[in-house]
Amino acid sequence: MTTATPYDAMFSGVIGQDYEMLKLLAPLAVEMSRLVGATVSQHPKTDDKPLSVVELGGGTGITTLSILAATDAIQLLSVDNEPVMQGQAQKKLQAWQAQGKLAFCLDDALSALQQLANGSVDVVASAYTLHNFTNGYRQQVISEIFRVLKPAGQFVNGDRYALDDIDQHTRTTQTEVGRYFRILTAANKLDLLEHWMVHLFSDESENHIMRESLALQQLAAAGFAGIHLSNRSEVNALVTAYKPR
Ligand SMILES: C[S@@+](CC[C@H](N)C(=O)[O-])C[C@H]1O[C@@H](n2cnc3c(N)ncnc32)[C@H](O)[C@@H]1O
Repeated sequence: MTTATPYDAMFSGVIGQDYEMLKLLAPLAVEMSRLVGATVSQHPKTDDKPLSVVELGGGTGITTLSILAATDAIQLLSVDNEPVMQGQAQKKLQAWQAQGKLAFCLDDALSALQQLANGSVDVVASAYTLHNFTNGYRQQVISEIFRVLKPAGQFVNGDRYALDDIDQHTRTTQTEVGRYFRILTAANKLDLLEHWMVHLFSDESENHIMRESLALQQLAAAGFAGIHLSNRSEVNALVTAYKPR
């Protein structure tokens, strides 16, 4: 942290360096990555080529590993614009990279998608990334996801989908904040606690918050069909949507 940039709400600083603490702070997030991997593995194959998957916001590789572990015949491009995060994934997942099943891209999600051809990807998968985007950027990313998917291609996202009931959402977030304080004060990680609190303010801000019904409408407006939200637990939920044939 510096005076010029007093806080880093994203992943380049303390949060990125100690991201593994999230397994204690938000155990549901780990389960959501498992669900994303399982959903990708169930995507119906249309030919005998490896499943072509783009992952947005691969981070330290938690979701990436779930996807790779669940599907053998796969070609996964994992996109993340934060070297502190992606560097950790690259170290952990060298074996898959060596087998040619995994490639990394350090561009931001929108730029990475813009470089892909129309109708070239079977599945775009993500966890806990899209909620970090501003609403306008998210809309552009969703349009690009739709463009790059093959007909019948799938978008799968395990993420923070804010509850439509604002009072309930606030109460749930307050419980979450209490858990962060309990765990991080006990671990004497006050710097990390400060950064996660700042990050949470960004997540909850009006130009970022990914409210459930608006998020699903945004997918429909982009052309997606079969939009389905499942596995809701607190602020977490899994969303799947298909590009019509
Ligand atoms: C909360 S982490 C999630 C990582 C992993 N999917 C997981 O569930 O543990 C969000 C990741 O999205 C990345 N990210 C945020 N904005 C991005 C953008 N515009 N383009 C690409 N990656 C982005 C961050 O660098 C971070 O690694």
